[in-house]
Amino acid sequence: MLIELEAITKIYNQGQANEVQALTDVSLRVATGSMLCLRGASGSGKSTLLGIIGCVFPPTSGRAAIAGKQLARLPDRFLTLHRRETIGFIFQRFNLLPSLTVLDNITLPLLPMGVGPRERKLRAQALLAQFDIQHREKFPAGQISGGELQRVAIARALIHDPPIILADEPTAHLDSRLSREFMAIMDRLKASGKTIVLASHDPLVTDHPGLDQIMDIRDGRLHVP
Ligand SMILES: Nc1ncnc2c1ncn2[C@@H]1O[C@H](COP(=O)(O)OP(=O)(O)OP(=O)(O)O)[C@@H](O)[C@H]1O
Ligand SMILES: [Mg+2]
Repeated sequence: MLIELEAITKIYNQGQANEVQALTDVSLRVATGSMLCLRGASGSGKSTLLGIIGCVFPPTSGRAAIAGKQLARLPDRFLTLHRRETIGFIFQRFNLLPSLTVLDNITLPLLPMGVGPRERKLRAQALLAQFDIQHREKFPAGQISGGELQRVAIARALIHDPPIILADEPTAHLDSRLSREFMAIMDRLKASGKTIVLASHDPLVTDHPGLDQIMDIRDGRLHVP
């Protein structure tokens, strides 16, 4: 199993007046090369769960093993290193830097990894070609279309070749054509061996035939439909 969570709890601001229990007793397993969708209403805990799978922060309690490492045992800086090696994150609003070029946005994750400029450019250009956006390489990200932005965000998530791809409500700001295109790209990535976890309540995602598992999350608890 590439992702194994057991009895995970996440409490924000523990012991303070604004304490929130965002996840309760969450257990799940995701096999290498499969695609899972977490479906839930706003505030149900989807982003929190993706944050734990994505090694952004550790759980409050429970066991999380991501790509062979137990998160609870990792000090913060190792959690960050593990995230850089293992996770490609596609954010809801893509989080690209509008004044940087497409090429510079895509290569950002490689900077802390010490990959040299020539290698960074070669890798980015290969992805640009794969997603058919070579002609936008030198454009500022703020000056390209929504569909192009989406593919740049996917390319940035893939540049360091992570085994796990996470996408948080990836279609929330896309029309239905681009949403279908997004899911077609996820199918291709799955076929290439990537493990994918999506969080969404968009039927185009939650009813997608390529999903191997769907789980409902309500008030921080998982329900298998
Ligand atoms: N950093 C934080 N500090 C305190 N509470 C938080 C924090 N992040 C999330 N929460 C709370 O935890 C609960 C779960 O939030 P989360 O963002 O995981 O839900 P979500 O399912 O992703 O919601 P949405 O669909 O609106 O993005 C919510 O009650 C939220 O207010
Ligand atoms: Mg969220």
